[in-house]
Amino acid sequence: MFRIEPAKITHIPELENIGKLSNIITYDYNYYMYILTKFPDINFVIKNKQNKIIGFILSQIKTKPDSSPIGHIISFCILEEYRNQKLGTKLINHLKKNIIKQYKINQLYLEMMVGNRALSFYNRNGFTESEKLPNYYDDSDGILLIWNNFS
Ligand SMILES: CC(C)(COP(=O)(O)OP(=O)(O)OC[C@H]1O[C@@H](n2cnc3c(N)ncnc32)[C@H](O)[C@@H]1OP(=O)(O)O)[C@@H](O)C(=O)NCCC(=O)NCCS
Repeated sequence: MFRIEPAKITHIPELENIGKLSNIITYDYNYYMYILTKFPDINFVIKNKQNKIIGFILSQIKTKPDSSPIGHIISFCILEEYRNQKLGTKLINHLKKNIIKQYKINQLYLEMMVGNRALSFYNRNGFTESEKLPNYYDDSDGILLIWNNFS
C-alpha cells in the first residue's frame, strides 16, 4: 500500500512543499539537486496508493580528512496525517540497508533540535546521543545522534 522509491529531481518541488508543511528546515533547489544527483541510491520518497509522495528521507556521505566515511541524514519527514504508522521506521530501515549495501558504511548521524519529539523515535531506531551542539540552530541548541550497525 505504501511504496518506497528513489527520490528524483522531478520530486524536488514536492519535497520542498512537504518539508514546509512539516516545519523542518528546507534547502534551496540546487542543494536538493546536488544531493539527489551525487547520492541517488541513498535518497528515498515514500508514496501512498494514489502515487502521492507522503514523506522522504535525504542523506549524503560525509568524509572528514581523518575519519572513515559516514552517512549523514539531511532531511526526514512524514506528512502529519500519515505519522505513527511505522512509515518513518520503514524509511529509516530502508536507508540503513542501502547505505550498508551500496557504500559498506555502518554508521549514520544526524543533527536534531533539542526538545524535538522525534528523539524517542530515533532512540527506538538505534540512534544514541553523541554530543550537544550549543547554538547549532538560530534560536536553539542541537544534539548529534549516531547509529552504529554493530553496537
Ligand atoms: C519523525 C518522523 C519522520 C517519524 O515518522 P513516523 O512515520 O511517525 O514514525 P513511526 O510511526 O515509525 O514512529 C512514531 C514515532 O515518531 C515520533 N513522532 C510522532 N509524531 C511526531 C512529530 N510530530 N514530531 C516528531 N516526532 C514525532 C514519535 O517518537 C513517535 O513515537 P511515540 O508516539 O512513541 O512518541 C515523523 O514524526 C515526522 O515527520 N516528524 C516531524 C518532522 C521531524 O521531526 N523530522 C525529524 C527531524 S530530525
